[in-house]
Amino acid sequence: DAPKFVKIVEVGPRDGLQNEKLVIPTAVKVELIEKLASSGLSVIEATSFVSPKWVPQLADAKDVMKAIQLVPGIKFPVLTPNLKGFEAAIAAGAKEIAVFAAASESFSKSNINCSIEESLTRYHEVVTAAKQLAIPVRGYVSCVVGCPVEGAVPPERVTYVAKALYDMGCYEISLGDTIGVGTPGTVVPMLEAVMSLIPVDKLAVHFHDTYGQSLSNILVALQMGIGVIDSSVAGLGGCPYAKGASGNVATEDVVYMLNGLGIKTNVDLGKLIAAGDLICKHLGRQSGSKAAIALCRI
Ligand code: HMG
Ligand code: MG
Repeated sequence: DAPKFVKIVEVGPRDGLQNEKLVIPTAVKVELIEKLASSGLSVIEATSFVSPKWVPQLADAKDVMKAIQLVPGIKFPVLTPNLKGFEAAIAAGAKEIAVFAAASESFSKSNINCSIEESLTRYHEVVTAAKQLAIPVRGYVSCVVGCPVEGAVPPERVTYVAKALYDMGCYEISLGDTIGVGTPGTVVPMLEAVMSLIPVDKLAVHFHDTYGQSLSNILVALQMGIGVIDSSVAGLGGCPYAKGASGNVATEDVVYMLNGLGIKTNVDLGKLIAAGDLICKHLGRQSGSKAAIALCRI
């Protein structure tokens, strides 16, 4: 059965912005996060403590964290690829982190420059350090249905990595269709395989909308009982190491659909649209959310 309440994990400030070529001023990022927070979102992925050579846009992670310390009652997880990133995140005041592995070797190599096994060893170190500080860790698996290099990814490869992250102590596993190639035809068997090993209330779905399949995929995930959805305001985003991948499903479109289904989110759609408007104006671009465009015409 579909859940009565869905937790939205807003990834716009991180996944949404990481691929933008022109450097966005820290103040704009902070204003975006504050506007998102005021819309009622309870989890906002704020930035990443990754190598600034790999993701120059997020080189101001420390300053972003410093500026948002004042927003109470909201979780601001940050990505940490290794112990160096973990230590920097903690020093900057992060109270929650996320580690990110992949179900495909090629993507692991191009995104974090190591094999899947090496990444799991690194993440084990990170999770161990986090446990000592009682810092919750979220675990991502990328390429859960397809890889830009290897093509179709079999469900067993996903379950292996998802289970490894879960057994390590990640409190939630986010399953990412990094390049947005999945349809309910591939997403359902993947979810069935993962759900045979990990309780459904520990799972989240993370769809990029490259092929316009996100809402259909989210709907089947909801019907299978998944209650955590990652999305990005205005549909911003893409991974710099997944060529051709477009943005995440737009948070406005997800909230619009959930409202229609009578599923609660605590998110105010009007305020969310205002947050999307701010960043789209700054980027000089139309929103990637169809709901936002339609509602702004009324
Ligand atoms: P590497 O080059 O193998 O790392 O990169 P290294 O350990 O050899 O270090 C190289 C340099 O980076 C050194 O500096 C380190 O100090 C520095 P140098 O001596 O050359 O001056 N360094 C760091 N600096 C800051 N913070 C750190 C850090 N670590 C090393 N944490 C590394 C390996 C993992 C660091 C690199 O590949 C990296 O940063 N990758 C991150 C890529 C990324 O952020 N991708 C996007 C996020 S994942 C995603 O979008 C998918 C997701 O949305 C889900 C989905 O859609 O599927 C989550
Ligand atoms: Mg992503």
